[in-house]
Amino acid sequence: MPRLLLESVTKVYDRDVYAAKDISFAVEPEEFTVLVGPSGCGKTTTLRLIAGLEELTSGNIYIDGKCMNDVSPKDRDVAMVFQNYALYPHMSVYDNMAFGLRMRKYPKQKVNERVVETARTLGISSLLERKPRQLSGGQRQRVALGRSIVRNPKLFLFDEPLSNLDAKMRVQMRAELARLHKKIRATIIYVTHDQVEAMTLGQKIIVLKEGEVQQVADPMGLYKKPRNKFVAGFIGSPPMNFVSGSIVKRNRKIVFCSRDFTLELNKSSEKMVEHEVILGIRPTDFSVTRGSCLEIIVDVIEPMGTELYVHGRLGETMFSARVPEDAAPRVGNSFALKIDPARIYFFDEKTEQKIK
Ligand SMILES: Nc1ncnc2c1ncn2[C@@H]1O[C@H](COP(=O)(O)OP(=O)(O)O)[C@@H](O)[C@H]1O
Ligand SMILES: [Mg+2]
Repeated sequence: MPRLLLESVTKVYDRDVYAAKDISFAVEPEEFTVLVGPSGCGKTTTLRLIAGLEELTSGNIYIDGKCMNDVSPKDRDVAMVFQNYALYPHMSVYDNMAFGLRMRKYPKQKVNERVVETARTLGISSLLERKPRQLSGGQRQRVALGRSIVRNPKLFLFDEPLSNLDAKMRVQMRAELARLHKKIRATIIYVTHDQVEAMTLGQKIIVLKEGEVQQVADPMGLYKKPRNKFVAGFIGSPPMNFVSGSIVKRNRKIVFCSRDFTLELNKSSEKMVEHEVILGIRPTDFSVTRGSCLEIIVDVIEPMGTELYVHGRLGETMFSARVPEDAAPRVGNSFALKIDPARIYFFDEKTEQKIK
């Protein structure tokens, strides 16, 4: 039985604003699930519906097989950690962590055991006497986590908990969260707009756009088999290159024709002849040895150590590509990018769904 099940969950705030539209997915016990999508796509709304802080417009939410639609937030046994974790400023770290347990009338000794053990798990044992203002951002975030962990809830809901931290701290806390997840065997739903965070943390990733689920998959599944243009462009950095065009037959060859260039395709593309398509190729999928050649004019070069990112254009079509350092591109010069037809994705121009 899944720990959490959403069935056609829908939330309409105003007449026409579908913050969540027909959302269905399952979360298994001990699974780390990430909800990812751009700002405003309905991530927070979905979490608040699960926590019971918003009322459903329609659909069902089950925890351990029990329908939660009419169960109050405090009886759902979920803990939510927000981006703006509000610690009580006048209370010590210890009291902040103990607060929820005391409210639930845990005996004093049990409270102490849980707080001390959780503090040890999070590496904040030496901070228990301090007040929140005497802590760094990362330490405060750990206390906020600790406050939810002490209760040992069935389900953790994290709403962009790392977005207030600086870049280095975020990477460190990300690794800590992954370790913590294994250690306490928690079931987690983690919300982020950051696809790198989603890819590194999620065992299962749910991509949302405008309140609707675009795809549910594991990280490599999303990367290698995006279902539509949105997912293909959202996952991966720098993002996939897209070019609109059509597929035609010329002198018995199958050719992709765009405004700025043509490209010969494999015979397997025959079924797409006469289709209007969007061609997609990842910056990391260009080849230096195989495939047809495109000559771009280099605008910008980003050195990344052993490799470079080249940004340039062919006519009005922009391309980004990862190339080895020794390929030695020069700004303002032309540079050859080779496309292996096997690495190309095609999307339907109208529906933006991937063409299989
Ligand atoms: N209380 C509310 N009243 C009306 N509209 C809201 C409310 N909360 C969120 N929305 C709208 O619902 C959509 C989804 O919001 P939200 O779930 O906060 O997105 P995210 O967390 O992905 O950024 C947005 O268009 C937002 O403006
Ligand atoms: Mg949000």
